[in-house]
Amino acid sequence: MPIDAPENSGNKKSSKLLFPAGFLWGVATSAYQIEGKNSNADWWSWEQQGKTRESSGNACAYWDFWKKDHELLSELGANSFRLSLEWSRIEPSEGQFSAAAIRDYREILQDLKKRNIKTIVTFWHWTSPIWFAEKYGLHKKESVEKFLRYGEKIMDELGDLIDIVVTINEPMVPLGMGFLTGKFPPGFKNPYRFFRAAKNLAQIHKGLYKSIHAKRNIPVGITYLYNYYFSAGNNILEKIANSAAKWFRVNFFSRKIKGFEDYVGIDYYRLVRMKFDPKNSNYFGFRIEEDKNNVMGWISYPEGIYRVLMEVSKESKLPIYIMENGRPTNAGLEDAERTEFLNSHLAYVGKAIQEGADVRGYLHWSLLDNYEWLEGFRPRFGLVEIDYQTLERKPRKSFYAYKKIIENNGLE
Ligand code: BGC
Repeated sequence: MPIDAPENSGNKKSSKLLFPAGFLWGVATSAYQIEGKNSNADWWSWEQQGKTRESSGNACAYWDFWKKDHELLSELGANSFRLSLEWSRIEPSEGQFSAAAIRDYREILQDLKKRNIKTIVTFWHWTSPIWFAEKYGLHKKESVEKFLRYGEKIMDELGDLIDIVVTINEPMVPLGMGFLTGKFPPGFKNPYRFFRAAKNLAQIHKGLYKSIHAKRNIPVGITYLYNYYFSAGNNILEKIANSAAKWFRVNFFSRKIKGFEDYVGIDYYRLVRMKFDPKNSNYFGFRIEEDKNNVMGWISYPEGIYRVLMEVSKESKLPIYIMENGRPTNAGLEDAERTEFLNSHLAYVGKAIQEGADVRGYLHWSLLDNYEWLEGFRPRFGLVEIDYQTLERKPRKSFYAYKKIIENNGLE
């Protein structure tokens, strides 16, 4: 469905960089990474098998403390919040939907509405119920029907409280990690199953797109992990590897769902530079260059978000939402690195908007420190620090810096 263009606030004056009126400012999260105790999920079993650095356990206990976290959203001044629904909570056994879980999600969404916060809801952020993983899995064609039934249920029970849908978060991550490298569940290294799963996931998205629109006129899309792939110098092999990596992450799936998106959802984090390294088997003889000073080795590259936005604008007429952008650190409350990250990236988002990119919103990853999949709790992504012993929440300086940006609808 078409999304109306926002009015241009038209203020380019002085040294302020203002964003369009009605711009969505918010934060992004995912259920499994914050809720805690999602013991019916395949990822939970994965943790029990020792495949991750740590187990998610209580995570941030958002399931118990969401009221506190929504208070933080209001204090931040966010007008949008991206959260995901945990399929394994909603349908803990096949065909049996949990009325209690649905009621709790209704309360969560209603509370956001009361606060005037737009709800951006992801239907699948990588975790599936154990029954689904054991009996079906994305590589089996029955997965499509099972997934679509879950989608119908969401729309029937919660659809009236949803403003924007992300059907699937970054499909190529669970597909690549789950079916090619074997690092995520179901742990296959099987190209045949990979292609089957990719085909089914694309069909799932298209099915959801149609069934959501049959019930409600809201924007529907997916997110792409869309980092900036770059090769310095003239090494032709590296250039090919970088183009191939970008094609795999973005174009492989976008081509399969062409015409079934109302917006382009971008998750941008870093510069990815593939370097030739014949000993590395993970990426077929290449490795991703690392920043030795970063907790996950990620190279921060603010200009990359501008380049990505301009690239997307050239290729598509659809509105763009930055559905995730953030930095893993081991910061305490001072957190100068995240503040600098926010300012520099948003300056480039503003530049892209001024040059015509139709960006409608920016969601920072993340509100809270959270469970970072294979890496456990070590990388800190939060504007708010979590003390994992007491589960106390403490806003960092970056929280207040972002609050100010939101208040001003832009940068000084
Ligand atoms: C994922 C998140 C993850 C973040 C940081 C994104 O690609 O959607 O689940 O926590 O990256 O790695």
